[in-house]
Amino acid sequence: MLVTDGVITRVEPGLGTDGQVLNAAGMYVMPGAVDVHVHSRDPGFPEKEDFASLTEAAAAGGVTVVLDMPNTVPAVDSAGVLEAKAALAHSKARVDFGLWGLMRSSTTPDELEEMAAAGAVGFKAYLAYSFSLSRKQVLYAPGSEDPDLEPPADYGTLARLAPVVAHLGLPLAIHAEDPTVLAAFRRPLLTYQDLLESRPPEAEAVALSAAAAVAREAGAHLHVAHLSSALGLQAAEDAMAIGTTLTLETCPQFLLLSADDFDRVGPAMKMLPPIRTAADRAALVDGLQRGVISMVSTDHAPHTDEEKARPLEEAPSGSPGVQTLYLSCLQLAKDMGDVWLAPRWVSESPARLAGLENSKGAVAPGYDADIVVVDPRRKTRVAAHEMRSRQRHSAIEGKEFDFAIAQVYLRGEPVGQGSKAQGRMVRPALVVR
Ligand code: DOR
Ligand code: ZN
Repeated sequence: MLVTDGVITRVEPGLGTDGQVLNAAGMYVMPGAVDVHVHSRDPGFPEKEDFASLTEAAAAGGVTVVLDMPNTVPAVDSAGVLEAKAALAHSKARVDFGLWGLMRSSTTPDELEEMAAAGAVGFKAYLAYSFSLSRKQVLYAPGSEDPDLEPPADYGTLARLAPVVAHLGLPLAIHAEDPTVLAAFRRPLLTYQDLLESRPPEAEAVALSAAAAVAREAGAHLHVAHLSSALGLQAAEDAMAIGTTLTLETCPQFLLLSADDFDRVGPAMKMLPPIRTAADRAALVDGLQRGVISMVSTDHAPHTDEEKARPLEEAPSGSPGVQTLYLSCLQLAKDMGDVWLAPRWVSESPARLAGLENSKGAVAPGYDADIVVVDPRRKTRVAAHEMRSRQRHSAIEGKEFDFAIAQVYLRGEPVGQGSKAQGRMVRPALVVR
C-alpha cells in the first residue's frame, strides 16, 4: 500500500521501499472504525470524559472517527452551539470527529438547516427524554409539570420535521423508547429484573414502528440507535419490508452479554435501553449475521466510577466502550466464520451513514489512510483499569479476544498514547434534495 499526504494512493504488493516502510506480515490491515454513537461529555462534564480522553481511548481501539451525540451541555440544538463544540473538539481530538445535532420538540426547520450548514452529520431525537431549559441539558426523564422541563420530541415533532431532514439528505436518528410504554411500567429498581420490566421491549418496538411510519411518509432516512431487542428487530424488519429507508445499529454489550451477566458485572452493565435476555441477544447476533443490522456502534457513555458503584436505582446509565469496539466485533465476526465482517460493521456501513463513503470506511485508493493493523496471534483480555477512557469500568470486563490492535494510523500518521490533537471535523457531503 502506498500512502501520500494521508491518502491511500495504491493498494498492491511490491510498491518499492521509498519513504517509510511498514511490515504488516501476518497481520490484518483493516480500515479504521467510525463509531457513530459516542458521548464525549465535552462540554458539560469533562470530569467524566473529554474529547482528549475519549479520542485517546478511540485511537487505542482502532476507532479513527467518532460521531458525538448532542446531549453534551449545553446541548447541540443550534448552529452556534455546534460550532463552539467543533472548535473545542478540534483543540483536543486525537482522531477525527463528527457532531450530531439535537432535535427538540421546539426545534424549527431553520435551526435544522443551520445545523446542517454548520456540518451536523444528522439529527438525534430522544423520544423519552425531556429538556431542561435552564440547564440546556437533555435529562433522562420524560418530564413533569415543571415549567423548566420541555417535553421530549414526540411523533408529532418527527412528522413536522422529518420532511426537512429528508430535504437535507441527512439521517434522523432516534433513541427508540416510547415514553407512554415506559410510564406504564415504571417501578423502583431494586433488582436487574426490575430494570428489565421497567423498560420492556414493547417500548422499543412501538417507538421504532411509529417513527418508521413518519419517516417513510416523509422520505427520510431513519437510523435506530442501540437496537436492543428481538421485538425491536422484528418491528424494523417489518418497516424495511414495506420500503422504509431504515438503518440499524446495535452495540457490543447487546451482542456479548445478557441479563444473566448482571450478578457478575453489576451496575457497570446498567444502560438504557437495557441489556436484555439471552433470546434478545441471540436475535441481535442473528440480525447482524443476516445483514439486517448493518453496523455496530458503542454508545460509549461514561459516568464516574463512583457514580457507577452506587446501587442500581441511583447508578446512572451508560458505560465506556469505544476502546473495545473493534476487538469485540473481530471476535463476533470470527465466531461467524469471517473476520472481514468486522470492518463492514464498524467502518464501511457507519461511514455511509455519516455521508463519508468517499473518504472513510475502506482501504482503497482515494480513501484517507485511517488504518488498523490487527494481530491475530496475540490475545487481549479486557481490563478496564488499563483503558484510556477517564472512567475505568467496563461492562465486558474480563472478556478475552483472539486479537490485539497492533497499530493505528490516522491519515497516515500513527496515533496512540501521547499523540497530538490531530483530529479534524468530518462533514457529510451535503446533497440537498
Ligand atoms: O444508557 C444510556 N446512557 N442511554 C442513553 O440514552 C444516554 C446515555 C448517556 O448519555 O449516559
Ligand atoms: Zn447514547
